[in-house]
Amino acid sequence: MAKAPIIQLSSVSRVFRGQREVTALAALDLDIAEGEFVTVVGPSGCGKSTLLNLIVGLQSPTTGQKLYRGQPFSGLNLDIGYVTQSDNLFPWLTVIENVCFGLSLRGIGSRAEQRDRALELIERVGLKGFENHYRHELSGGMRQRVNIVRTLVYDPPVILLDEPFGPLDAQTRLQLQDLLLTLWHERPKTTLIFITHDLTEAIALGDRVIIMSARPGRVEEIVPVDLPRPRDIYTIHTDEQFRRIYDRVWLRLAEQMKAPVS
Ligand SMILES: Nc1ncnc2c1ncn2[C@@H]1O[C@H](COP(=O)(O)OP(=O)(O)OP(=O)(O)O)[C@@H](O)[C@H]1O
Ligand SMILES: [Mg+2]
Repeated sequence: MAKAPIIQLSSVSRVFRGQREVTALAALDLDIAEGEFVTVVGPSGCGKSTLLNLIVGLQSPTTGQKLYRGQPFSGLNLDIGYVTQSDNLFPWLTVIENVCFGLSLRGIGSRAEQRDRALELIERVGLKGFENHYRHELSGGMRQRVNIVRTLVYDPPVILLDEPFGPLDAQTRLQLQDLLLTLWHERPKTTLIFITHDLTEAIALGDRVIIMSARPGRVEEIVPVDLPRPRDIYTIHTDEQFRRIYDRVWLRLAEQMKAPVS
């Protein structure tokens, strides 16, 4: 890999011991470079969310090593932002208060600076006029915009996104993909790790698609997406090279979907 790796996982496994022992991840190796946009696909239950939980430090690996900028780390990594599938917005806070929350927590800027920074991004994602609304007054797509903005606002070097657009309709999804790409192009050093079940989304967004095996999750194959950027999210699926990559990813994933789950 040409660029310096920011996250390195080697032989990582994660076993859950409950009523029934489940090996979620086994011998997983993965290097992610600074500034990369990596997408992850894999059969349901193969350990994708577990992988993100390990990277951010919400859980520790049972065995194996994880490095952040070349150093081993344990505990929560505050350099890493996490956009979860459910928006987790605080229902008692307004949009702008939700967005400012992470800035206050990290002591970034004065209150006025926090508001300015939050307002700028709220406008960028088309939510001007909704800054004083509460969660229940927003649509699903609006909530996900706020969810992304409240992570982007403090500019973490790494952002993990776990099926962030999963529950949204196809049009809103495209708009948010486009928006995410634009915001990422403005922050070229930001590393994104994005889980999705939607192969078109994985290929349209990613520099590389990581295909995970059926559980226990390993890296089955890594498919480079050598499509030029900036990409037109609305038409990219018609590109011939895109179709070739799609077929390759789909065939590989289908094999894993047919594999017996342990
Ligand atoms: N905290 C936990 N305790 C016990 N088992 C867990 C825990 N978290 C995950 N698992 C198990 O680990 C396996 C992987 O779960 P994970 O949520 O990582 O899968 P996933 O790939 O994100 O699935 P999906 O695509 O459905 O979101 C599953 O069998 C799940 O039951
Ligand atoms: Mg998951």
